[in-house]
Amino acid sequence: MHFSSLSLGLLSAAGVVVNALPGLGLGDLLWPLKVPDTVVIDGWRLVDAKTRLYLGDRELKAALKHLTAQADSWLSQGPWTVTAKTKPPPNGTIHDYSSQAPYWWPNPSTPDGCPYNQRDGERNPEVDQYQDRVSVGKMFNSTYVLSLAWYYTGEKRYSQHAADILRTWFLDDKTAMNPNLEHAQIIPCANTGRSIGIIDFSQEYTNVVDAVAILNSGPAPGWTKRDNNKFVDWNKRFLAWLADSPFGVEEASAQNNHGTFANMQIAALAVFTGNHSLAVQRTRIARGFIDSQITANGSQPQELARTRSFHYSNFDLCAHLRMALIARKVGVDLFRYKGPQGQTLFKAVEFLVPAAKGGARAWTYPELGFTQYAATDNVRAAAQEGDTVARGAVKGLKAPPGGDIFGLRPAPEQLDSIATVG
Ligand SMILES: *[C@@H]1O[C@H](CO)[C@@H](O)[C@H](O)[C@H]1NC(C)=O
Ligand SMILES: *[C@@H]1O[C@H](CO)[C@@H](O)[C@H](O)[C@H]1NC(C)=O
Ligand SMILES: *[C@@H]1O[C@H](CO)[C@@H](O)[C@H](O)[C@H]1NC(C)=O
Ligand SMILES: *[C@@H]1O[C@H](CO)[C@@H](O)[C@H](O)[C@H]1NC(C)=O
Repeated sequence: MHFSSLSLGLLSAAGVVVNALPGLGLGDLLWPLKVPDTVVIDGWRLVDAKTRLYLGDRELKAALKHLTAQADSWLSQGPWTVTAKTKPPPNGTIHDYSSQAPYWWPNPSTPDGCPYNQRDGERNPEVDQYQDRVSVGKMFNSTYVLSLAWYYTGEKRYSQHAADILRTWFLDDKTAMNPNLEHAQIIPCANTGRSIGIIDFSQEYTNVVDAVAILNSGPAPGWTKRDNNKFVDWNKRFLAWLADSPFGVEEASAQNNHGTFANMQIAALAVFTGNHSLAVQRTRIARGFIDSQITANGSQPQELARTRSFHYSNFDLCAHLRMALIARKVGVDLFRYKGPQGQTLFKAVEFLVPAAKGGARAWTYPELGFTQYAATDNVRAAAQEGDTVARGAVKGLKAPPGGDIFGLRPAPEQLDSIATVG
């Protein structure tokens, strides 16, 4: 459903918002806001939150303080560019995003250091020659937070800075990233990039797409129609690479969280660029992942087998829940989908609820660094969709550092630090 060109008043006349915003009276429906055409977040939920803020909702006002504090901290940082790195990747140009596998070290007994050896958990400082991994994380977070802060406050310094960061990373000829990930998670001597490096983007890039959709709902000061057209074009080329290149195909067919995230990212870009059939096709793959990754009792055996089982159970589930939000934009309901053994996304969230409320004591699987708030957004997302167990748990959840802003960007995020690929 794409509402972006309609005002809320028109939607209410069509009977849509009356159901969507149960707390609102007639007067509020005259609030003339465009519904952002976001691909993960349901855009009307942004309008709902803005309206509630306007009416003085206390919880959202507290969340807005957290959001603007985060946005303010980004005002003095960036923009970032792939062209700032020390050197181009092997077989690539300075415009290619590049990152190096952090746990691989040169061989001390050969003159050229080849072949590199893996030392798990020990970070090789040589990876800093490719600063793109660090820069891109800041680009992802800052554009999202700044766009949201502009949306709720109308303060143009936020949208102007978001636009500046976006143009520098994606659009300006001198500094733009090429739309591919051929050189991510390089292991020197062994390769010039790997398919698993796509997760450098897939875990957070879809936030940037929503950030741009939010800016487009303005129009926001600093972000023009021309900028948007160029950004859509960049994403069409990136999507073609993700969907059809050998690395893209390999990553999206991985059977663990790499596949869940890659497939979710493809679906998001398909919706954003208007490739409906590709998005629908990816929702079928997503159903297959629910069948194969989640059991009837909601456990995710592949993730439970890891040394950071709580982190990874939440990580994979976050991709599933975001995919379910995207699928709704093409009329597919994954929240209500049931696998052949009765597997559902709600069951997978419910499996995590005791530890989300009760902490490490309630988690009996291996976990090297239990972080209770890792589950907070997933539980909120299920509660928002009406799962009663999740609803009952919301009050007992732990907020992440920097405060709980779920109400202002109602799509789940991986809130604890993201483990680096090996
Ligand atoms: C990639 O670069 C390496 C060294 O920089 C070179 O040996 C190799 O032939 C190149 N491979 C391709 C496919 O161009
Ligand atoms: C981005 O935000 C996530 C949580 O939302 C956090 O874990 C991560 O550290 C942040 N990264 C940067 C570079 O700010
Ligand atoms: C949708 O994406 C697929 C995969 O890249 C491509 O083959 C197809 O032509 C695209 N369709 C449209 C309408 O752009
Ligand atoms: C959940 O189901 C799986 C697969 O059937 C099983 O191995 C596991 O023991 C079950 N876990 C719980 C806590 O019931």
